[in-house]
Amino acid sequence: MNYADITDRLAGLGGVKWEIHARARAMAAAGQEILSLTIGEPDVPPPPELLARARDSMENGRYGYSNGRGEPGLLAALSTRYTRRTGRTIGPNQIICLPGTQTALYAALLTLVGLGDEVLVGDPMYATYEGVIASTGATMVAVPLRPETGFRMQVADVAARITPRSRVLFLNTPHNPTGAVLTRDEVQALGQLARKHDLWILSDEVYEELIFDGGSFASPLDEADLAERTIVVSSISKSHAAPGFRSGWCVGPGEFTSRMLPVAETMLFGNQPFIADMTALAVSKPSAVARGMADRFAARARMIHDMLNRNDLRVHQPGAGMFTVVDISATGLSGEAFARKLLAEEAVAVMPGESFGLALAGWLRVSLTRPDAEIAEACRRIAAFTAREMGPKT
Ligand SMILES: Cc1ncc(COP(=O)(O)O)c(C=O)c1O
Repeated sequence: MNYADITDRLAGLGGVKWEIHARARAMAAAGQEILSLTIGEPDVPPPPELLARARDSMENGRYGYSNGRGEPGLLAALSTRYTRRTGRTIGPNQIICLPGTQTALYAALLTLVGLGDEVLVGDPMYATYEGVIASTGATMVAVPLRPETGFRMQVADVAARITPRSRVLFLNTPHNPTGAVLTRDEVQALGQLARKHDLWILSDEVYEELIFDGGSFASPLDEADLAERTIVVSSISKSHAAPGFRSGWCVGPGEFTSRMLPVAETMLFGNQPFIADMTALAVSKPSAVARGMADRFAARARMIHDMLNRNDLRVHQPGAGMFTVVDISATGLSGEAFARKLLAEEAVAVMPGESFGLALAGWLRVSLTRPDAEIAEACRRIAAFTAREMGPKT
């Protein structure tokens, strides 16, 4: 039988990257005790008032068909939030609600690029980016993010990779997997480059509310001279510990959202009113759970640094998010080989850096969302495993 080209383009870009995670889950299901530091699931439930709002809405009959853009109450709440954040009017016509950041990225890229176009994206990157770009037929152009510059995207690295086919500069701040947060100066400099080459800026801001230790957030959407080319995607998955509700959105220029609306409509035929009601409440004020998560994740990142950042392991200090990354290249193992052996020998599951791009080969990504004691025990086992791999010092 014949299949569409998209299936070839996406072959190997989906579940394969999560192989260690899947294997750890299977081992746990078979009864083995596994310390699983693979994915970033919030460590608290969503705030009770949000669950109550979703329940009340369902009981009040808010389960019918919606429309392709979003429920008016949620559009109004998002409009207020982004108008306040940017200091400019962001109208409901500039917003489209979608089931999660992931779908918003998919619909936005499908609206912006196709075969022959190039999308510039930082490497390392969130594991789905390569697939979502490939799904459109566009070519991914990896911009290296380096530990020496805190994994923050540098203008010269982008400039060196711009071609006449470049269409989109894809940013992710705060960044998964490295926890890097772009400064306002960096956002402005990247934005000026995008202006010079007439690029769209697609900004994944799903970790906006998980910044550590008084750090500050900067977005190209908040720069008036970048607004005409900036599209922001986000959701309540991380900020409100609600990934299973699949509630996200996209904000951009009105012309862009009118072009994207038919894409969203043909994909989804509307949103879920009871989830929209819950999300409207969520985005109407600062999250009740984000600050606590950010403080706990920052403390765990420091603990991992204190326990492992010596001799053969180099632990990066994230500025936000749910993960830290560890350079294990001194062991001579790839991230994949390290993660596979660590799971087999120590029952600790972490993600190989290679799942997030070539730039993170020889690294691991460790989730900060498990309890302190579990993370401390995982660190002890990682240290013991590393010592065995390195052999006796001569
Ligand atoms: C950088 C980044 N973007 C998007 C997503 C997907 O988020 P959502 O649950 O809103 O689809 C994730 C989830 O881990 C992520 O880390």
